[in-house]
Amino acid sequence: MSSENNNKKVNDGEMLLSVKDLTVQYTSMGSVVRAVNGVSFDLKRGQTLALVGETGAGKTSIAKAILRILPDISATAKGSVVFDGEDLMKLKDKDMEKIRGHKISMIFQDPMTALNPIMRVGRQISEVLTAHRHLTREEAVEEGKKMLEMVGIPAERYNEFPHQFSGGMKQRVVIAMALACTPELLLADEPTTALDVTIQAQVLELINDLKERLNTSMILITHDLGVVNETCDDVAVVYAGKIIESGKKRDVFKNPLHPYTNGLFGALPNMNLDSERLSPIEGLPPDPTDLPDGCAFAPRCPYATDKCRQGDIPAVEVEPGHFCECIRVHEIRKEQ
Ligand SMILES: Nc1ncnc2c1ncn2[C@@H]1O[C@H](COP(=O)(O)OP(=O)(O)OP(=O)(O)O)[C@@H](O)[C@H]1O
Ligand SMILES: [Mg+2]
Repeated sequence: MSSENNNKKVNDGEMLLSVKDLTVQYTSMGSVVRAVNGVSFDLKRGQTLALVGETGAGKTSIAKAILRILPDISATAKGSVVFDGEDLMKLKDKDMEKIRGHKISMIFQDPMTALNPIMRVGRQISEVLTAHRHLTREEAVEEGKKMLEMVGIPAERYNEFPHQFSGGMKQRVVIAMALACTPELLLADEPTTALDVTIQAQVLELINDLKERLNTSMILITHDLGVVNETCDDVAVVYAGKIIESGKKRDVFKNPLHPYTNGLFGALPNMNLDSERLSPIEGLPPDPTDLPDGCAFAPRCPYATDKCRQGDIPAVEVEPGHFCECIRVHEIRKEQ
């Protein structure tokens, strides 16, 4: 093992990322879209946090705010994002550029946004290697080919262009690029959704292996509870731009507290199943341009009372490290 890896191991358990009171708003056709509404969480080195929740919950907006890649004109982000002791929200653009794609990299939901259509795929990977790992050109080509094979693409395809690849293969190239710079933090936004099941398993294994070797931390955005189960240490459930439940994966799976989490996890017959999707819950999430007072889940919640529909809903720590934003959590647990 290299000395770099040894150094990273020494930092085990140290806080890498601390997000406090993050809000993201978009201005769209004259309305304010309240996409993220006061999100806070911590992530230690080497740990993986899963962000789960329905479409439109604000998961991608959280990741983009951390990396400061929200659209300048239409989006505003507030709060603090302390990474390795520094608040990224306060960094100058040129300092943020040194962190982006170097210490923090992101695998996007849509692989096409990350690939250059007129550059050969192998070169796109080896450019990351020469820039971030200071390899010579020859070493970078060798390593780039290895990385292609690691994500299940034959090295002979190194000189092809993105349009010669299928959607799943493009996503594998994007994953190889994101891992090539050996980031301290990987933001993985639905990284395996576009892949077929066999390749999904290989890619997850690859990501897990990198995490082990380099002590990389990861925020994994996924709809797939099987993926959460296999990959994550902690889980945060996002609803209408808030984390309404969070805790160790085993606690949240074993003992889901919030009525929304129960809806998502409750119908899960067996958490060892590889690919359980989130179960549908009756009703729709609220319109982010017109969020209700009180708990945003109340309009869909079978347990909601008038008290749920007013004021701020505080987080309750039901067991050590397991939080839930539901004022009726204790009563509901007695009723069940
Ligand atoms: N550029 C934008 N301009 C206006 N509204 C936006 C923009 N990007 C996202 N939104 C809105 O912000 C809210 C949160 O979107 P976001 O993409 O963060 O959700 P998500 O949880 O990642 O959803 P999905 O699971 O579908 O990827 C949604 O209501 C979305 O329509
Ligand atoms: Mg998204």
